[in-house]
Amino acid sequence: HPAARAAAVAVALTLTGCSSPEIDVPADFGQPLMIPPLAESHVDASGTRIFDLTARGGTTEFTAAGATETMGYNGTFLGPTLRAARGEKVAVNVTNSLAEATSVHWHGMHLPAAMDGGPHQEVAPGATWRPEWIIDQPAATLWYHPHPHGRTEEQVYRGLAGMFILDDPDTASSGLPGTYGVDDIPLIVQDKQFTADGQWSLKNDGNEIGVLGSTTMVNGSIGAVQQVTTEQVRLRLLNGSTARIYNFGFANDRPFQVVATDGGLLQAPLERRNIQLSPGERAEIVLSLAPGEETMLRSSKPDLGAVAASFAFGGEDSFDLLKLQAAPVLQPSAKISPRLATFAPDEEAASVTRSFTLAGREINGRKMDMDRIDQTVALGATEIWEVRSRNSFPHNFHIHDVQFQILSIDGAEPPEHLAGRKDTVYLSPRKTYRLIMSFEDYADPDVPFMYHCHLLLHEDEGMMGQFTVTDPAADAGVSKPGPDHD
Ligand code: C2O
Ligand code: CU
Repeated sequence: HPAARAAAVAVALTLTGCSSPEIDVPADFGQPLMIPPLAESHVDASGTRIFDLTARGGTTEFTAAGATETMGYNGTFLGPTLRAARGEKVAVNVTNSLAEATSVHWHGMHLPAAMDGGPHQEVAPGATWRPEWIIDQPAATLWYHPHPHGRTEEQVYRGLAGMFILDDPDTASSGLPGTYGVDDIPLIVQDKQFTADGQWSLKNDGNEIGVLGSTTMVNGSIGAVQQVTTEQVRLRLLNGSTARIYNFGFANDRPFQVVATDGGLLQAPLERRNIQLSPGERAEIVLSLAPGEETMLRSSKPDLGAVAASFAFGGEDSFDLLKLQAAPVLQPSAKISPRLATFAPDEEAASVTRSFTLAGREINGRKMDMDRIDQTVALGATEIWEVRSRNSFPHNFHIHDVQFQILSIDGAEPPEHLAGRKDTVYLSPRKTYRLIMSFEDYADPDVPFMYHCHLLLHEDEGMMGQFTVTDPAADAGVSKPGPDHD
């Protein structure tokens, strides 16, 4: 019967597609590192800096096995680096040229909820969305990625992600290396599982946390080398993976300075030999090399806390990521200021404490419901959020709109590299993380912000909640004096 035969052929094709064996891609650390281009922008008559981002599908050549089906912004894989300064008004024309709905979320950005690019700001295929807001937060390494409910893991995995660097004229004198692509290098680290036909598998082997690939790439380069031409180089590390947790360090345990975390500069440079980042987290580090020296950026076995002994992190947990090769003669670098930023969390100012328990795919026993607001926060409030994972496999916690600080982990002060401005934190199982944050500037009773696990399979499967920021004065019909009230 022809119809049955056609169906059988279709099944056979599907099976072939699925059963192309998984392969490991060799890395020789010979090719130059790809650097995402800086996004072009123009400033219009009203002073707004305007960017254009188009999400699209395509194919990208990573291996000799053939072109991989990928997604990218303004290209076929990843996206350009957006860059703007504190005080600037920015607008982004986000066009969706995919065959499916998407959204673009500005991870780490303080902005009105309607501009946030979460699940409530989906962009239909063919449509353009134009958020605009004023950059009003310290210099930081932020990023952007899709956030459509239930589809985030696959879209990010396929390549929709880019960096968003914020500058702050007030801290421009930090002495940190700052020439993009020369001594200030963005590093988007991701893992992929290649199959013999050159495609990427999204299979997760029932490991509870999502796909773990055996090939790691930095900015889309597999096994690359970056030439260093200055005495010091600043690396902006982004864990852009959907599930994998990296414990970054260098060959021979070489020390480096951590100068910033998710939301901006630490108070002072901090010498370390490793820094662990879970999906969505960032760190800026500064490395010194002698003329002619080379080293390897690698990830070693992460410290996940009390995860089940049976929890295997995708078999392998050590990876060489990027070779750094210093030129025979190096340009001098400025001295890094010993004082980078000042902030002090004010626990006394907190008026509300909320608690969040993560388990399975739920937060406080509930899965994400687009039509349910889980928390209502008063504009201007400082709050403490106590967050805890009850599982023996990894979760982390990300909050939109704000940067928080960690007051304590199970009652103890956080280590220095976790004491700065953060928007995402790894949750060591069964420990209580006390986070403090203030909800300033933007209230909208109708449009929620999200909080969620940033392991994207978990997020897609419902480990997310919604909060609105409401202005009690406005809700009571009291007019609020302000620049936009005429
Ligand atoms: Cu980076 Cu709600 O996400
Ligand atoms: Cu999780």
